[in-house]
Amino acid sequence: MPRVLLADSFAESRQILKSRDYPPTAMADQYRFIGQQLGVDFSPAIRVLEMLPVFLSGPRHAAVRRAMAIGIASAREAQQHAAQQVIDRLPALLAPGRQAEWMAEFVRPLWQAMAEAHGGAADTDPGLVSDVTRLFDSRLRLRERLEINERIRDFIDAAPDSAEQRLLALGQNVLGVGPFTGSMAMSLHQLFSSNLNQPLTDIAYPASLPVSALPVTDRIVSPDSDAAAEDVVVVKRCLLHSKRFSAKENDEALYGLGEHACLGRPISATVWSMVIAKLSQIGSAIQSSVLTLAAAAPESDNDLLKLTDPFVRPLSLRVQTCPVDSQPQAANGVTAAT
Ligand code: HEM
Repeated sequence: MPRVLLADSFAESRQILKSRDYPPTAMADQYRFIGQQLGVDFSPAIRVLEMLPVFLSGPRHAAVRRAMAIGIASAREAQQHAAQQVIDRLPALLAPGRQAEWMAEFVRPLWQAMAEAHGGAADTDPGLVSDVTRLFDSRLRLRERLEINERIRDFIDAAPDSAEQRLLALGQNVLGVGPFTGSMAMSLHQLFSSNLNQPLTDIAYPASLPVSALPVTDRIVSPDSDAAAEDVVVVKRCLLHSKRFSAKENDEALYGLGEHACLGRPISATVWSMVIAKLSQIGSAIQSSVLTLAAAAPESDNDLLKLTDPFVRPLSLRVQTCPVDSQPQAANGVTAAT
């Protein structure tokens, strides 16, 4: 087991993330290890994990990142167009007096439209993209890991000749789905709940997403760390987004720093601008906004150290609108399902 330490400042997180000396953890190696220990074949899961630049370093990272960057850049225009069509539904969703579940009615369809335009949806298994992200959670039960592993095997076997290309496309969406849908839902909730009963036309909209669903990322710092015994791997948990950071610092690290900085930044930032441009034209107000998360968002250092899943996962965002002149109601806040 690695020893996990929390970076104690924005400056330390930035210094570690910007340095080439500290690689990310190699998730594929963890599956190799579990597979060997239990005599289980995790090779399908390992093939996907080796397509995810966040868990790669050296020449393999450079090659996969380059291939992914080309795919992401070439899909950008089509993704923007697909996103605009979903964003154009916002006036109907925000009609005065309407209550809507925004994860189901806006955030997931927005992501789905972008993923399809990307040509990278998991064609044979639509839920696969989200479920692959569950492989990153160290608490996931073995039975579920094995089920996801078999679904990846089916995905590969459906068209083995084009498997590399399809795994690359799958990988792009695997890295996008959690941060995009989570940050979008949490940011909309923050915006709505801090501007209750204000005409949407009058709100001061933040230029970039104000909340991130990916608050930390890990880098291996041993053997340089003082705390490392020779045989203990030391991991520094770097903060990307935190209440203790200024808005400027959060903005700077929202999409990561250094050689693993996010390839989905341009499309995500553009889509946020498109969302707020549309919201600012709508003549109603938010009466209540309730966000439900799968598990409470990490707040304290202890929460961050104990975090087993890198993503904060919203389950639902219930939003009630009202005409601009009525009063806000009490039902606002964040709840956790577990
Ligand atoms: C609001 C949306 C998003 C946020 C906040 C976000 C955040 C991040 C962060 C913080 C990292 C760096 C992780 C690390 O250093 O360990 C990252 C990496 C990455 N992101 Fe995003 N992301 C978002 C959307 C997307 C989308 C839509 C895509 C795909 C289309 C994407 C693809 C990637 C890829 C491929 C990497 C890995 C880069 C590398 O390791 O070289 N992201 N993202």
